[in-house]
Amino acid sequence: MKNVLNAPFLHKMMDTCANMYRLGWDERNGGNISLLLEEEEVAPYLTEEVLRTIPLGFDATDLKGKYFLVTGTGKYFKNVKDDPETNLGLIRIAEDGQTAELLWGYKDGGRFTSELPAHLKSHMARLKVDPNHHVIMHSHPTYTLAMNYVHVLDERELTRTLWQMCTECIVVFPDGVGVLPWMLCGTNEIGDATANKMEQYRLVVWGMHGIYGAGKDLDETFGLIETVEKAAQIYMLTAHLPRVNTIEDHQLKELAEFFKVDYRKDFLNI
Ligand code: 13P
Ligand code: ZN
Repeated sequence: MKNVLNAPFLHKMMDTCANMYRLGWDERNGGNISLLLEEEEVAPYLTEEVLRTIPLGFDATDLKGKYFLVTGTGKYFKNVKDDPETNLGLIRIAEDGQTAELLWGYKDGGRFTSELPAHLKSHMARLKVDPNHHVIMHSHPTYTLAMNYVHVLDERELTRTLWQMCTECIVVFPDGVGVLPWMLCGTNEIGDATANKMEQYRLVVWGMHGIYGAGKDLDETFGLIETVEKAAQIYMLTAHLPRVNTIEDHQLKELAEFFKVDYRKDFLNI
């Protein structure tokens, strides 16, 4: 049996957490990631042994038998690279759809992120619309969060502003950004609300808290949040100054059509 500590998927997760910490998106234990793994990918690294079972507290029957590498609750992204076996866990959703079977990790007796409802419910929603989906990522990027306090939290308005901030935004997230109002985090309710938005968006802002991203792999999902954060930074650097130039709606349309992306046409005034 191969050692999990050598698995490429583990190293990609460690690098992603380190990058997110480096960018200041994940202070203290802020943020969490879950990576859906294929059975063939994990099988060489596992025995049949289940270390512990942990109740989920919600129904995840659609995901039974699926494997996820998940950041631990209360764990710091900055520490993942030095001690992945304490800060990460590899779980399988049990046959009952109500329990997680711990196969590796959470070495200090820890457990998965408190945001697992939002993660697993969003995985279920995304898998229905995207068979290549694998990653849910939550983070507290600085400028995105700052923008939450000075910009209206409306999906159409927020998406339009972000699209106007960098030419490539509409190409990277043509589906726009969903928005939830401030809600209590760590609950099944915010999990259901996030998953509901994930049916149409790969990015969901949690009002005055942070952002969720969904994608086919860690790089793509990171890149989505990174692009929103860059746009939010440009916004925060310019919002208090007179706007002299902007990317017009007809130019956004031109971009979307040239790069052949399926964009939210109802978000443009055309
Ligand atoms: P966890 O430490 O439980 O992952 O929570 C961090 C967080 O960002 C809550 O929204
Ligand atoms: Zn958070």
